Amino acid sequence: MPAIDKFERPVFSLRISITNRCNVRCFYCHHDGILPQSYEMTPDEIYRVSKIAADTGVRKIRLSGGEPLIRNDIVEIVEKIAAVGFKDTAITTNGTLLGKYARELEAAGLNRVNVSFDTLNPETYKFITKKDYIEKAKDGIKKASEAGLYPVKVNMVVMKGINDHEIWDMFHFCKENNAILQLIELLKADNQSSSKFFSEYHFKMDELEEELTQKADEVKTRQFMQDRKKYFIEDGEIEVVKPMDNTEFCKNCTRIRITPDGKIKPCLLRNDNLVDLIEPMRQGYSDEELKKIFLDAVQNREPFFKECSGN
Ligand code: 5AD
Ligand code: SF4
Repeated sequence: MPAIDKFERPVFSLRISITNRCNVRCFYCHHDGILPQSYEMTPDEIYRVSKIAADTGVRKIRLSGGEPLIRNDIVEIVEKIAAVGFKDTAITTNGTLLGKYARELEAAGLNRVNVSFDTLNPETYKFITKKDYIEKAKDGIKKASEAGLYPVKVNMVVMKGINDHEIWDMFHFCKENNAILQLIELLKADNQSSSKFFSEYHFKMDELEEELTQKADEVKTRQFMQDRKKYFIEDGEIEVVKPMDNTEFCKNCTRIRITPDGKIKPCLLRNDNLVDLIEPMRQGYSDEELKKIFLDAVQNREPFFKECSGN
């Protein structure tokens, strides 16, 4: 049984950001809502945090960053968390180091990967990430698929005038590589200097979704996943991820996060309610005591956007 908060939301999934560092510089990056940190948890600490979460009923785990594959001990980290026995062990990565690590990670117990990859055009790639790593990222997607990290999902942030004309090319690229395309609506992020940025690049998904509905053989809605839509087209698959700044998103949130320095982050959109788990761990708290800290943090979770019910 999963732990449940006061708003009757179960917590099924844990997302651990294992580093803030990244080897590319996407100009739209929201850094997963995490502030810069210098300390990074060790593999043993990550294992213990995962074990505690699993003991409270968390079933799914995902490592994120920054770029998680930038850590030299990434294979050891995956081995350790895989040993906990989650139903699903996944990583979100920019793919540039996946060519190197896909097989090892699969052997270590990783189930699947999401690769942030927005364009097939080398110049556009460089404009977005400031790096010339497009071939590395493409190779990473291919190797992940070949290694059996199934399903590989490609996260494409759709931006007006930048890559919005590439959706069907990306879909075919994904199909060739046995990957699912996830179209992500651009979000406002603190580090984007002005709202001009947002209005300049924000692409509205509504019209596109109509086109997808017409083209699709079947459309499914994913429960507990913010009712995301899945479109099945010519034996390929497209998912659409819409913004999270709404009450529906918060009502269906089943996720809790851990920052690279070992703090529980109950809400993606807040940094003022973090709960330290690593400091007590270092002070020698028992598993039971740490579990209690984790459960308290879960139970005190609040939706960022609450229903306007007048009370
Ligand atoms: N808007 C939408 N998606 C974003 N990501 C990072 N910043 C933004 C943003 N401002 C995405 C990345 C990656 C995932 C972890 O978050 O592309 O796929
Ligand atoms: Fe941010 Fe991910 Fe891009 Fe790195 S790859 S800059 S973490 S969006």
